Amino acid sequence: MQFNKKHLLGLEECSKEEICYILDAAKSFKEVLSRPIPKVPTLRGKTIVNLFFENSTRTRISFELAEKRLSADSVNFSASGSSVAKGETLRDTARNIEAMKIDMVVIRHGAAGAPHFLTRCVDAHIINAGDGQHEHPTQGLLDLMTLQEKFGDLKDLKVAIVGDIAHSRVARSNIYGLQALGAKVALCGPATFMPLQAEQWGGEVFYNIDDAIEWADVLNVLRIQLERQQRGLFSTVREYHNLFGVTRARLERAKKDITILHPGPINRGVEIESELADSDCALILNQVTNGVAVRMAILYLLSGLSQGESSQE
Ligand code: CP
Repeated sequence: MQFNKKHLLGLEECSKEEICYILDAAKSFKEVLSRPIPKVPTLRGKTIVNLFFENSTRTRISFELAEKRLSADSVNFSASGSSVAKGETLRDTARNIEAMKIDMVVIRHGAAGAPHFLTRCVDAHIINAGDGQHEHPTQGLLDLMTLQEKFGDLKDLKVAIVGDIAHSRVARSNIYGLQALGAKVALCGPATFMPLQAEQWGGEVFYNIDDAIEWADVLNVLRIQLERQQRGLFSTVREYHNLFGVTRARLERAKKDITILHPGPINRGVEIESELADSDCALILNQVTNGVAVRMAILYLLSGLSQGESSQE
């Protein structure tokens, strides 16, 4: 198969074949990361700008590491301290950066659609590192990779996404990716966190966490966005934990092995019990490790080098 995409904007527009192709490439790059010198010359001579208009720890550092492991030159941009603070627009910011001869832009932005907008402003390859409440495709891919490592084929695997579904870009990318690979997806959370017509997003919808645990093989537990508490979407953190928190006691009551994912950052003691987040059933740090390999795969495949040149010597 040839990988012909110029940009990675979301998993909604990726086929099953494209997702599998990216995940296969990520497996190869994970092997590179285990070498004594975890670096290949694949993107030597390419310049990548990491354009972060929102805070990030995992995504930003793992893109930077992926770029270094591929020998690309990378430049980091934060909105704070830049001319955005003086009123410069996203279009002008991007066009000025492109005038310095860059090849790819990784963008995180609070507005849904910002990466799509950039594709109309510049010629560079654009990678969505999270746009508002829309999509976070590399998070979705690293979650799929982590599940494939544990379960192999994801067909009919039951994954319940728990928490603030309506406002979550991680939920959207997971739903598209999991469904493309044949997994069964359920949504769980309070009614105020559910999108309109939630039934049409996935399969089952649970308003009771114990029912979701009973159904699922995997829980993907989302961060509760505490900044939304003022908007009255839930009453108190303690009440949310009592009603929807994933705890060891709840898993023991269900008497089944369950695998837990969490995209981070974790609110310990809110959406998940602290001790459980550090337990063997939680693959949270495996997700972070796989994030570097997935991002190396995306940078490599979008660069077009996969259509002729060798990648990993
Ligand atoms: N999962 C995730 O996107 O984390 P960061 O916000 O730290 O990048």
